[in-house]
Amino acid sequence: MPAVPDLLLVPLALLALQASLCHGACVELDSDTEAVANEGFKLGCISCKMRGEVPATASVDWYFRASDETEFSHLYSYDDQRAQIIDPRFDGRLGWNGSKNTKDLQDGSIYILNVTFNDTGTYQCIFTRLLMYTNYEYQTNTTKIINMNVVPQLTRGLASILSEVMMYVSIIGLQLWLVVEMIYCYRKIAAAGEEALRESAAEYLAIASESKDNCAGVQVAE
Ligand SMILES: *[C@@H]1O[C@H](CO)[C@@H](O)[C@H](O)[C@H]1NC(C)=O
Ligand SMILES: *[C@@H]1O[C@H](CO)[C@@H](O)[C@H](O)[C@H]1NC(C)=O
Ligand SMILES: *[C@@H]1O[C@H](CO)[C@@H](O)[C@H](O)[C@H]1NC(C)=O
Ligand SMILES: *[C@@H]1O[C@H](CO)[C@@H](O)[C@H](O)[C@H]1NC(C)=O
Repeated sequence: MPAVPDLLLVPLALLALQASLCHGACVELDSDTEAVANEGFKLGCISCKMRGEVPATASVDWYFRASDETEFSHLYSYDDQRAQIIDPRFDGRLGWNGSKNTKDLQDGSIYILNVTFNDTGTYQCIFTRLLMYTNYEYQTNTTKIINMNVVPQLTRGLASILSEVMMYVSIIGLQLWLVVEMIYCYRKIAAAGEEALRESAAEYLAIASESKDNCAGVQVAE
């Protein structure tokens, strides 16, 4: 991919990382939605606790609806640091990528190993959070929806190579166009300058001859 935007992204990513490491800041980033067949894919789901100072516990449930299905089925559950794969289609293919070593989850992301085209569909991530205030408990639910698309490896490579080639072609094309335009303008200005010179010379001659006519009656020593 283009080198310059990547270079710009690095300090930004470092800043974000530093912010989250130093202050424990929680940022609700949206998940990626395009997975590549036969590779791993992280289904991101982050639900920040609005009141950071209130102790809480949370559990995460994932639901899945394949692109040709109408109903969601229970896919995965993570509660009390225990993970369970419920949908047999994903047996041995799901790993936890969320908050570790805590019951106060804010990141409920999971990881699919060896994505297949059958994994295309809609994923629903539900956080069930219990906020524990001194005198009472309060439950909140947060739901996030991810529409995941699976693309074959080859097309993606080809598409990104094509887009890179197009980028260079358009950059070089634009620069050539600029040079051509500059030459064209320069020549036009030069021609206009010559034209103006010729015109003013002609004008001068015309005025001169006119004044000679006007002065016909006057004897001018020549
Ligand atoms: C995400 O889960 C996969 C599979 O369990 C694991 O290989 C990978 O290291 C995990 N990544 C993170 C950042 O936890
Ligand atoms: C993923 O695919 C690789 C290569 O096709 C295979 O070796 C590996 O066992 C697969 N892993 C799972 C969890 O299916
Ligand atoms: C995908 O689903 C079809 C039909 O349900 C099934 O025949 C096929 O074996 C599945 N492929 C994989 C890789 O699970
Ligand atoms: C949250 O979801 C549970 C079931 O998962 C439900 O019993 C509860 O009423 C919901 N709470 C809120 C505040 O929506």
